Amino acid sequence: MADRPQLHIDGQILDLPLIVGSENERGLDISSLRTKTGTVTLDPGFMNTASTSSAITFLDGEKGILRYRGIPIEELAEKSTFVETSYLLIYGKLPSKPELENFSRLLTRHSLIHEDMKRFFDGYPGTAHPMAILSSMVVSLSSFYPEAVDIKNHEQIDITIGRLLAKVRTIAAFSYKKSIGQPFVYPKNSLSYCANFLNMMFSVPAEDYPVDEETVKALNLLLILHADHEQNCSTSTVRLVGSAQTNLFASISAGVCALWGPLHGGANQEVMEMLDEIHASGQPVDSFIARAKDKRSDFRLMGFGHRVYKNYDPRAKIIKAACDSILKKFGVKDPKLEIALRLEEVALSDDYFIERKLYPNVDFYSGIIYRALGIPTNMFTVMFALGRLPGWIAHWKEQIESPLARIGRPRQIYTGPTLNHYLPMDQRTG
Ligand code: ACO
Repeated sequence: MADRPQLHIDGQILDLPLIVGSENERGLDISSLRTKTGTVTLDPGFMNTASTSSAITFLDGEKGILRYRGIPIEELAEKSTFVETSYLLIYGKLPSKPELENFSRLLTRHSLIHEDMKRFFDGYPGTAHPMAILSSMVVSLSSFYPEAVDIKNHEQIDITIGRLLAKVRTIAAFSYKKSIGQPFVYPKNSLSYCANFLNMMFSVPAEDYPVDEETVKALNLLLILHADHEQNCSTSTVRLVGSAQTNLFASISAGVCALWGPLHGGANQEVMEMLDEIHASGQPVDSFIARAKDKRSDFRLMGFGHRVYKNYDPRAKIIKAACDSILKKFGVKDPKLEIALRLEEVALSDDYFIERKLYPNVDFYSGIIYRALGIPTNMFTVMFALGRLPGWIAHWKEQIESPLARIGRPRQIYTGPTLNHYLPMDQRTG
């Protein structure tokens, strides 16, 4: 017999429907709780709250499983490309040959940004963080394509999706060129998605840039691994903003801002800075582990721990293996990799990390590969954003197409002063 969970509250008995997902995940539907009992649930940080049901990504943090539309991340990492994986996430199935060709053509056709947008870059100081530039540029796209505001027009949405995937890549490369004072390099239609990005990043008008196939492969891998991760902080942000029927450009721009935080996507930059700091200090790794465990210190082992994974992050496993072989292939000897491996070894045999189930996450090794590919540290989170883009888009699209979609509006438990009255200035003390 199916479970019939009940809640006993103030002498009332309330049946709570049990919602079971396709992988047997169970959730209590409490949507009628307040209407029937005047009580809400309280769950700071959403530790125990499913904000939605979703058919995009399955994640089992205890077992270390990650699948996009049912396909294990390990298979996609080995066999797919970023463009194909984007199609899979956004449209729910692997594309046929003509579907993939059309989709790739869309991304190629829309890769230029409006010439007026190029001038925006002049307004930023040379020290501007590329995430600040990226977020404002993405929302600015809605002023060049105001038709995107009509979220009921499906044909238009498909074009907006193509524009975003194509142009964010161009904007990311331009923001890098701006930061090093080099001229912008326009996209080239003859190149694949990742090769095109590398060309815009690293070529200069004075000479050709031979796009290296190994680098393209490594970039595809990293972008696939970052492409979606169900209801994480930035994706939930995109969904919340989108729930107000806000257009896709603006919703994604909000996601970029959420990703920037050091506890989320910004961690990849922090990991590299931490490894640099450990390297420069000449101190043994153990002393940094001790600092990370010390509750009086605010130092954390960046790239370690995850809200959902209480096991090795499957993406970190793939990245760690790739990291090893990429550094070998490129003949790069990076002492930071040695430090990272030693940190991991010490942490994984330390009771503090074992008890709290703290394992390396996706960001722990990704920076070492990005650096080997020539991508500077302050661009790491931009690379994450480029990878996460199809996931954000897929969630925004799933939500606006859902007949159950409603504006996201959490409740609160108020803890401020009770009724109080306005005092004129001459009667206020202190
Ligand atoms: N180093 C040292 N201690 C840690 C770390 C860490 N990296 N992460 C968690 N802990 C400890 C906490 O101090 C806490 O200890 P306590 O129980 O004694 O108080 C316990 O482990 C649980 O940690 P919380 O912060 O409560 O876990 P939460 O799920 O809220 O946070 C988070 C998860 C933000 C990822 C956290 O592990 C962290 O700050 N990690 C470092 C930043 C990082 O790598 N972020 C990237 C995450 S992956 C991504 O977003 C792409």
